[in-house]
Amino acid sequence: MLSYIIEGGHKLEGKTYVSGSKNASLPILAAGILGPKLTLYNVPQIYDTEKTIQILNLLGCKVKKNKGKVVIESNNIKEFKIPDKLMRELRSSVVLAGALITRFKKAVFSYPGGCDIGVRPIDLHLKGFEKLGIIVKEEEGYIKCSADKIIGTDINLDFPSVGATENIMLAAVMAEGETTINNAALEPEIVDLQKALNKMGAKIKGAGTSIISIRGVKKLKDAGHNIMPDRIEAGTLLAMTAITCGNVELTNTCPEHIIPVIHKLEEMGCKIDIEKDIIKLSVNKRLKATDIKTMPYPGFPTDLQSVFGGLLTTAKGTSMIVENIFENRFKYLSELKRMGAKNTIEGKMAIIKGVKKLSGTEVDATDLRGGATLILAGLAARGKTKVNNIEYILRGYENIDNKLNSLGAKIKQIQWGN
Ligand code: UD1
Repeated sequence: MLSYIIEGGHKLEGKTYVSGSKNASLPILAAGILGPKLTLYNVPQIYDTEKTIQILNLLGCKVKKNKGKVVIESNNIKEFKIPDKLMRELRSSVVLAGALITRFKKAVFSYPGGCDIGVRPIDLHLKGFEKLGIIVKEEEGYIKCSADKIIGTDINLDFPSVGATENIMLAAVMAEGETTINNAALEPEIVDLQKALNKMGAKIKGAGTSIISIRGVKKLKDAGHNIMPDRIEAGTLLAMTAITCGNVELTNTCPEHIIPVIHKLEEMGCKIDIEKDIIKLSVNKRLKATDIKTMPYPGFPTDLQSVFGGLLTTAKGTSMIVENIFENRFKYLSELKRMGAKNTIEGKMAIIKGVKKLSGTEVDATDLRGGATLILAGLAARGKTKVNNIEYILRGYENIDNKLNSLGAKIKQIQWGN
């Protein structure tokens, strides 16, 4: 088992960089299936990208990786079935289906796994596939997709699902005619996917708005793409700095992607300066409570709900958080209670009463972002905090312990048990 031991009470100070985006990398790695050769830069070295690369290899892609550079050649890809074991290991494995459908007019996969933050159905993905003329059947625990022809059409999403928007884009790239996705998700990661696909020769426009149109093309070509910065990592590092009353400069950010996050930090009393791709944050007094409601982009991101829930734990006053996207994203709150936090949950709302200080103890990460929240709490707590199950955190944060240590934190990874 892997854990972090954090000695609390050290201010974060100095300069660090934000890695490439996990959520942008995953569908763009899937685009590698469409081939012939896709070269990606700034791919974060995290468990979820490693797993995706493992699946690509298994499908027959030739993948070369050197730090953040990943080259995918898919001329010899022959497999269109994703093994159940790997599907269960990460949620985003589902976007491989859209790419396989374009490549083979067939895909076989099972229900994806990933962090347990809610039911996470894939009905919108499958309904989108069916609208494109793909036959979707469920047999022996597998979802089997097949089509004679993929035909462009109008698709209306009941909810602006990020994954469904990406999957439909990947499935429609080489469809006959034009596909329009109405009520598409607006997230910046979708814009990054459009950029990567268009460099490969796709004809997509509208990403970043609620209407995306995809004109099917006959052929794709070699391309290179630099993955956008991770806005969730940026928000996490800013919140970590804030809880330690620190002073940090973050480079390689896209400030325009985290406007609601910056506003909340300012509302709480942080001083923020922005210069192009650099965000500087400093805090010199106890932060104030605030209220947060998660919303699809450009609203406050659900992926930063827990991190801000952790930050508000030591703010002055009572804060309210409403989680509107996932139904099971408050598990970290009971772990924070072990550290002295005061909070209650009522349905999709959490009430957090700020305490002056948290105390270090042993806590368990329950999911990726909830795990990062426990690190944040440990940085500010009195004494030592042991965070268990850090495999969750390693899914999505590149080099987090080294980055924090370079800013003055005292955090080390330990391995224990069998
Ligand atoms: C992506 C992100 C995740 C983020 C989430 C919302 C990746 C790899 N993950 O997840 O970090 O928290 O967006 O910003 O990019 N839904 C359905 N049916 C579907 C699909 C989704 O009901 O077919 C529901 C979900 O249960 C959830 C909501 O829609 O309540 C949002 O899900 P979605 O936007 O699809 O999130 P993901 O793509 O899974």
